[in-house]
Amino acid sequence: MSDKLILTLALVGGTGKLGPGLAMRWAQAGYRVIIGSRQAEKAQAVADELNEQLGIESILGLENSEAIERADIVVLTVKQDAHAATVRSLKEGLHGKIVVDTTARVDFRDPKPPEPPSAPRYAQDEIGPEARVVAAFQTVPAHRLKEAVDEPLDLDVLICSDDIDAAFEVVKLVEGAGLNGYYAGSLDNAIVVEGLTAILIAMNKHYDTKKASIRVTGVR
Ligand SMILES: NC(=O)c1ccc[n+]([C@@H]2O[C@H](COP(=O)([O-])OP(=O)(O)OC[C@H]3O[C@@H](n4cnc5c(N)ncnc54)[C@H](OP(=O)(O)O)[C@@H]3O)[C@@H](O)[C@H]2O)c1
Repeated sequence: MSDKLILTLALVGGTGKLGPGLAMRWAQAGYRVIIGSRQAEKAQAVADELNEQLGIESILGLENSEAIERADIVVLTVKQDAHAATVRSLKEGLHGKIVVDTTARVDFRDPKPPEPPSAPRYAQDEIGPEARVVAAFQTVPAHRLKEAVDEPLDLDVLICSDDIDAAFEVVKLVEGAGLNGYYAGSLDNAIVVEGLTAILIAMNKHYDTKKASIRVTGVR
C-alpha cells in the first residue's frame, strides 16, 4: 500500500466533531479525502464547507458505504454509541482495508474506563482477519485539530494494532496530520487508551479546559 502515490482516506461519520479536523489536515497533506455520512447530502455539505475553508475542491462527500468502496484506508469517526452497529453494517465493505478506529467509549458525565474488549478489538473480531484494524486518535481533542490546519500540533498519538505494517501506515497518517505517532502494542492495549481518554476528560473538567492530551517521553 505504501508504494501507491496518493492514498484515498474515507472518514465514516466524518460529519461530526472529530472527522472534519482530520479531513482538513489530510487534504492539506495531499491525501485524497472523502467525508462519509449516512446521508450523501450531509456528507457533501460538510465537504463543501471544508473545501471552502481550505480554498480547495478536492474533498468529496459520499454515503458511508460508497466512501468506503473508494478508499484505501477507512477511518471510523462515528459517535461512540453507534460504533458497534456501524461496524456490523459496513463490515463486508471493509475487507482488504486498513481500518483506523478512533472510538473512545467514555461517558462525559461520569468518565471512567470502559469494559473490555476495546472498541477496536471488537471491530477486528467482528470484521475478521480480512481487514487490519488500527486504534488511533482516541486522546486527541477534536477542536485542537481544527486550529491552524497547515501547522503541526504538539500532540502525541498512541497507535495499537495486531498488524505492525498497518500500524506504521497509520503512524504516517498521524504524521501527515501534523501530530506525532507512537506504536503502543496490540489492539488489546487500546482498552487502556480508551481509559486514558476518560482520565483526560476528568482532567478537562477539573482544570476547566478542553485541551488535556498526552505527551510521550523517553522514546526516540
Ligand atoms: N470529539 C472528540 O474530541 C474525540 C476525540 C477523540 C476520539 N473521539 C472519538 O471519535 C468518534 C467520533 O466522535 P465525535 O465527537 O466526532 O462524534 P459525533 O460528532 O457525536 O458524531 C460523529 C458522527 O457519527 C454519526 N452518527 C451519529 N449517530 C449515528 C448512528 N446511530 N449510526 C451511524 N452513524 C451515526 C453522525 O454522522 P452522520 O449523521 O453524518 O451519519 C455524526 O456526525 C467517537 O467514537 C469518539 O469516541 C472523539
